[in-house]
Amino acid sequence: MILTVTLNAALDITHHVDRLRPHAAHRVHGVAARAGGKGVNVSRVLHALGRPTLVTGLVGGATGAAVRRELHRAGLAEELIPVVGETRRTVAVVDASTGDTTTLLEPGPVVLPEEWSLFREAFGALLARATVVVLSGSLPPGLPDDAYAVLVRAARGRGVPALLDTSGPALLAALPAGPALVKPNADELAEAAARFSAAAGAGPAPGPDGPHHAALPAAGALLSAGAEAVVASLGAAGMVAVTAEGAWRARPPERLSGNPTGAGDAAVAALAVGLAARDPWPVRLAEAVALSAAAVAAPLAGSFEPDVHHRLRHLVDVAPLPRTPGDTPCPS
Ligand SMILES: Nc1ncnc2c1ncn2[C@@H]1O[C@H](COP(=O)(O)OP(=O)(O)OP(=O)(O)O)[C@@H](O)[C@H]1O
Ligand SMILES: [Mg+2]
Repeated sequence: MILTVTLNAALDITHHVDRLRPHAAHRVHGVAARAGGKGVNVSRVLHALGRPTLVTGLVGGATGAAVRRELHRAGLAEELIPVVGETRRTVAVVDASTGDTTTLLEPGPVVLPEEWSLFREAFGALLARATVVVLSGSLPPGLPDDAYAVLVRAARGRGVPALLDTSGPALLAALPAGPALVKPNADELAEAAARFSAAAGAGPAPGPDGPHHAALPAAGALLSAGAEAVVASLGAAGMVAVTAEGAWRARPPERLSGNPTGAGDAAVAALAVGLAARDPWPVRLAEAVALSAAAVAAPLAGSFEPDVHHRLRHLVDVAPLPRTPGDTPCPS
């Protein structure tokens, strides 16, 4: 079972209006409410792939109860831990005249020290059933920056590899704990690497592999800081992986149009499957690039178009890269 952790779960509410205008009242034509948060999205993708997965994290109040109900309706197994505070909502307003979306993101409940301690205990027990643990998203107020570092250490202690997808201080604090894999996007990678001055590189060189080469020093810095492997997702350019075994880049065969929100979560789902199976890196990257492209083609975060996934998975272009200029690429 792949365990996903969403410490700041949400109820994602989408309102559809004809046209959004400031200072005006709006009649809402349609409302949808879905359980959200990045770990939840990862579990949705895993469930759709037919992979056993369990959602854990923190929920509270009437909104937390609504999150749980919606997960059950979607057929997702959960062992969420209760908190006193109210789970956050995210509100998206879709303007039918332009197709644009305006979002309001609540911060989430303040987690009390005793709630965090209960969560850590429950997490330790869930690890006994997990092959891989995925730690995704931002930390709710009240949790220390090293919250993910604590969970990564607990997972390592039980021999369960941890895949971490977060940013900022929570990512930096977790690197020395030795996550099996971190998956920053381009902005998150640049922000983290700015902490390691040696890795503050120039912009991408021209050519299709420019963005991949440009990401190498920063990804290498995260590896040196303690991650066992780094897969940086670079939007439509694909991904770059830097590991102890070598470095690779992977490009989608085409640029998809659609909704890129949640494409990173689909990539994480594929990388978690590859981590559990110990697939060779080029195979993991091909699958992650195909599945995340298929997620761009689907309208909602946490879903993907199976036809696009199947069509693209054998067409992804994967090639080894030298880890540093002058190195010879390792064989694929
Ligand atoms: N337009 C696109 N066409 C094809 N593939 C894409 C496109 N956009 C993104 N992808 C794929 O999705 C992966 C993840 O995208 P991105 O780097 O934007 O993730 P992210 O910012 O972490 O997303 P999120 O956190 O919203 O889930 C990319 O590495 C790439 O393989
Ligand atoms: Mg992301």
